[in-house]
Amino acid sequence: GSGRVRLVVANWKLHHTHLEAIAFLERLWHLLDVEDYRRAEIAICPAFTALRSAQLTIETDGMPYRLGAQDVFWEPSGAYTGEVSVPMLAKLDVKYVIVGHSERRRLFGETDDVVAKKAAAVASGGLVPIVCVGEVAEERAGGTTEAVLERQLDTVLTTYPVEALGELVIAYEPVWAIGSGTPATPEDAEHVARFLRDRLARRASEAVAARVRILYGGSVDVGNAVAFLAQADIDGLLVGGASLDPERFAQLLGGR
Ligand code: G3P
Repeated sequence: GSGRVRLVVANWKLHHTHLEAIAFLERLWHLLDVEDYRRAEIAICPAFTALRSAQLTIETDGMPYRLGAQDVFWEPSGAYTGEVSVPMLAKLDVKYVIVGHSERRRLFGETDDVVAKKAAAVASGGLVPIVCVGEVAEERAGGTTEAVLERQLDTVLTTYPVEALGELVIAYEPVWAIGSGTPATPEDAEHVARFLRDRLARRASEAVAARVRILYGGSVDVGNAVAFLAQADIDGLLVGGASLDPERFAQLLGGR
């Protein structure tokens, strides 16, 4: 094998109160067994308001789940009304932070530079960014997918702390596949993952490229998760809609 630990991430987006998060975790804990935990590292990314409750639930019951956040600001503290920082997340045992999700790029105006600053801040703070990249439908139709991905990835690599590069997680989420019910084919997703890994080898090193985990996201569900995970360069999944219900997510994780 690649030696890379598989990672399956639940991105709840704007769903679930802190009480619903607790109920979800208790239920998932009941549904999964030892075999499921061997298959992949599991990370849950609730809204900020649910992180503390999730942290306590995970700690109290000794659950093997990692916590993730869906976004972060790059400054550690200061006059930035409404923002949340990396040190604050670290205190909540958050390990992963999703950065540059297409919804943040599209709805909240996040540029490649903003995404790069956030990714660097996360890594410098000892956490692991899950950097999202992906083309929109027009870019795909126009044949510029690889140019777009190159631009998105290269901007992050420019300012990223070199010593943390091996830990980096990249999520390939073709924007047209998100919430659409139309995923990329596993073969197309593998092709892009391979492309991203080659790019990492050239811009960083072969050693880094061999360690970085690349996830696929976009309409992942019970029926297709296994096919994506079977690809050589796909090391995990970033799951939206299918991660909201514990039964459905457990089924997806168990490959059943
Ligand atoms: O971050 C995961 C997400 O964007 C994919 O959403 O609902 O298509 O799984 P969904």
